Amino acid sequence: MKIISSLSDFCHWRKSLSKSTSIGFIPTMGALHNGHLSLVSDSLGDTDVTVVSIFVNPKQFSKNEDFDTYPRTLKDDLYKLRKLGVAVVFTPGVEDIYNESVESFSFEDPFLAILEGAARPHFFPGVLNVVSRLFNIVVPNFAYFGKKDAQQLLLIEKLVQLGGFSIKIIRGDTVREESGLAMSSRNQYLSSSAKQAASCLNLSLVCAKNLLLNGETNVNKIKEGMYQIINKERNILVDYISIVCLDVLVEVESVVCGPVLISLAVTLDGVRLIDNVFYDSRSRPMSTL
Ligand code: PAF
Repeated sequence: MKIISSLSDFCHWRKSLSKSTSIGFIPTMGALHNGHLSLVSDSLGDTDVTVVSIFVNPKQFSKNEDFDTYPRTLKDDLYKLRKLGVAVVFTPGVEDIYNESVESFSFEDPFLAILEGAARPHFFPGVLNVVSRLFNIVVPNFAYFGKKDAQQLLLIEKLVQLGGFSIKIIRGDTVREESGLAMSSRNQYLSSSAKQAASCLNLSLVCAKNLLLNGETNVNKIKEGMYQIINKERNILVDYISIVCLDVLVEVESVVCGPVLISLAVTLDGVRLIDNVFYDSRSRPMSTL
């Protein structure tokens, strides 16, 4: 496994590949868990060469967020990636990514400003900035993003479309702990009792799915069911529960047709947690899209 940490070395390596070599790319901020590793495995199965980047992007953290304390576990990450058979790990510095020779692309969209975008206004502009730069450096054929960060995934699909990138985005299923808690690098901040309590996020989504499968279309009733489950846990503060129509990326009042994204964000013991499920009423029973 090659570990490349400078822009010039990466570009040199990239140029050495033939045009017919297919490249799968998984951008990460490290602290790798099974969610990341399942994206890596998908890429290893689909493509000739798999590239993983590890870069904790300062531009997607606000001043009062956890950039300084974000888990950095490079040695463990490299061990996991080597074991899987990854070809190249790219570990650039800030000066490589934000180098003036690397182009970025961004766009305006109301979907940037709702849900996670409302709570963290700097977040999606920072993500689009770094991901477009990484796409321009790595020039992959396929890029893999988890459904766990659904809003990010949908915005990156838009980025590819609007920015004219010739990249196919592959959606990876959310990987969960036995308790149902969606895997996330920030789960490391939770105590074991908080981790147990956090399983209510998944339970509330299962409840929403079941209500939909039983024919409930009223969004308020679905949200009520979800709140009832979450409110059983003390110390949880709900930021939002949302149902968005995927065709137009706006909140809906009733789920009558077409695919939707049901998502929620909470703070538990000071840690922000998000989770979601995709649901398509046109292809009942539940499709995972
Ligand atoms: O999902 C993440 O880990 C990050 O937002 C990403 C896509 C690697 C950009 O920094």
